[in-house]
Amino acid sequence: MKYLHMMLVLLTVVLLGSTTAMAEVPSPKIPKGNAEQCVEPTQEMRVNHMEYILHQRDETVYWGVRTKKHSFKECINCHTVKDDAGKAVTFKDERHFCNSCHTYTAVKIDCFECHASTPTAKSGANPHSSINSLIKMSAAGSKE
Ligand code: HEC
Ligand code: HEC
Ligand code: HEC
Repeated sequence: MKYLHMMLVLLTVVLLGSTTAMAEVPSPKIPKGNAEQCVEPTQEMRVNHMEYILHQRDETVYWGVRTKKHSFKECINCHTVKDDAGKAVTFKDERHFCNSCHTYTAVKIDCFECHASTPTAKSGANPHSSINSLIKMSAAGSKE
């Protein structure tokens, strides 16, 4: 029994040691949102953000429901990251909020092939301008 106890203590020491080592593994540099808090608690968003945006998409696209709280456009508006020149970086830039973490976790998303990854300039600007031009292009039969 004494021997078993010793083994357990040793094992615990080894395990604790490796957790400390794990904490030193480089973690992604995630830019902070431009407000006090997110639309849901940070921890909840960290784990479930995709549920919110995908749910929001279905509500809007299938049911025509438009609310602001979980709107994709609002995520982009508040999670803007600016470069040294003060210009909002696009999803192509590794500093982009959504990219910062996705590059690190190797999760690929195609959202920005259609959606704007930076806030649109002036107020009243159409957030879906890139989508709309895409729709117009396909309606016109353009191959671009
Ligand atoms: C009004 C500003 C605002 C809006 C709108 C907003 N967020 Fe956030 N978000 C924040 C802030 C502030 C934090 C907290 C960062 C922290 O605690 O360091 C955050 C945290 C997060 C995190 C966790 C980041 C981390 O550090 O782990 C994710 C993921 C996230 N938001 C995604 C979204 C998505 C997706 C949307 C749209 C549905 C959204 N946010 C809308 C401000 C916003
Ligand atoms: C804190 C790190 C982090 C941030 C910041 C973050 N994501 Fe994610 N995202 C993840 C992880 C990790 C997954 C994969 C989760 C899983 O597979 O269970 C994921 C999954 C997703 C998915 C689902 C992909 C799929 O194929 O199922 C979408 C969509 C998504 N994120 C969109 C976004 C958008 C848009 C932003 C910026 C507004 C963003 N994420 C910011 C970490 C992050
Ligand atoms: C092929 C183009 C395309 C891709 C790719 C795409 N979307 Fe969309 N999305 C659209 C169109 C078109 C609409 C409808 C525009 C409208 O009605 O405002 C839309 C609407 C939405 C909406 C509701 C409007 C809003 O701003 O809240 C959300 C949320 C959304 N998409 C999220 C996503 C997410 C998350 C991804 C990636 C996993 C994604 N979309 C990928 C074309 C696309």
